[in-house]
Amino acid sequence: MNFIRNAWYVACWSAEVKVGAMFNRRLLDEPIVFFRKQDGAAVALQDRCPHRFIPLHLGTIRGDRIECGYHGLQFDCSGSCVKNPHGDGKIPAAAKVRSYPLQDKHGMLWIWMGDGDGSTTQIPDYSMIEPDSGYLTSTGGYIHIKANYELMAENLLDLSHITYLHDGLLGSPEQAGADQVVKDHGTEIHCNRWMPDISVPGVFDMLYKRDGKKVDMWTNMRWLPPSCFVLDSGVRKAGLAEREDHGWYYGVHILTPEGPLTTHYHFAAALPLGTSLTPEEAAKFAEMRRYAFQEQDKPILDAQQAAIGNNNFWDMKPVLLSIDAGPVRMRRSLERMLLAEQKQKEDATK
Ligand code: FES
Ligand SMILES: [Fe+2]
Repeated sequence: MNFIRNAWYVACWSAEVKVGAMFNRRLLDEPIVFFRKQDGAAVALQDRCPHRFIPLHLGTIRGDRIECGYHGLQFDCSGSCVKNPHGDGKIPAAAKVRSYPLQDKHGMLWIWMGDGDGSTTQIPDYSMIEPDSGYLTSTGGYIHIKANYELMAENLLDLSHITYLHDGLLGSPEQAGADQVVKDHGTEIHCNRWMPDISVPGVFDMLYKRDGKKVDMWTNMRWLPPSCFVLDSGVRKAGLAEREDHGWYYGVHILTPEGPLTTHYHFAAALPLGTSLTPEEAAKFAEMRRYAFQEQDKPILDAQQAAIGNNNFWDMKPVLLSIDAGPVRMRRSLERMLLAEQKQKEDATK
């Protein structure tokens, strides 16, 4: 499978990569090893020794270098072999691995695996989850999904499933048939659902003490191509014209393809400062979200991919419903992005 490469992808939470230790992860179907230099700057290298293809993360960190665990070649942060302990010590020109541009931003490590260094492409703004953002942030989480990232992206963009899959927790029965508006905003797609006069879903009842009373609820999801999402979701007293100073939050949802059939899923949440939560309630909020994503979304997505197998999604002729407007538009947009990248590559090699 071809992936969109000219994009910043989240590799992991920044705190997962430490000085003097290696962290490895497959991204866009390539093995990558991460570590931090003595000065704290993060490094990402192709995780495959060019000698006999051993994963470099099985080796040893030597200062700001990695020493391969098999025959001891050493690689610096640029991926160049800088020490060959054998024979006359000459270093073959091909003894190097790819190094990838990284940015430490919003508590996450972002990797560029495309052409150039990514300096002209923006990282999506997730400043709301930084410690000094002016929001209360809910602990970030990570889930490994055994499904292609486009299936997971559909799950996030079209939230009609919350009525069924997350009933009582994130959704409630009267949400079915909600007004759903899909709009293009430049390269983004926004999928907004408005659900007036519904029973309050559990998470909002717990957060905002609605005592089970009816509310108006919205879920406004933004897709930032290729695989980042920001959700603005909340409730207010039924019939009230303006949102209250609390009663809502931002949901952060970020996908990175691991390979064609698996996805790294990072998530977090940011609540406005007006939200008064005891530590127990804050923990409960985090746990409700973890439960919804890990115990409800993940099994559905894993089963969906298992059912589809290696078949092409469109070849299977999926039935289309009104709720698919956003997901279909997103899939078409991804196809166009992929074609544009391929054309760019072909033009460059002419
Ligand atoms: S496999 Fe890495 S040095 Fe031989
Ligand atoms: Fe879900």
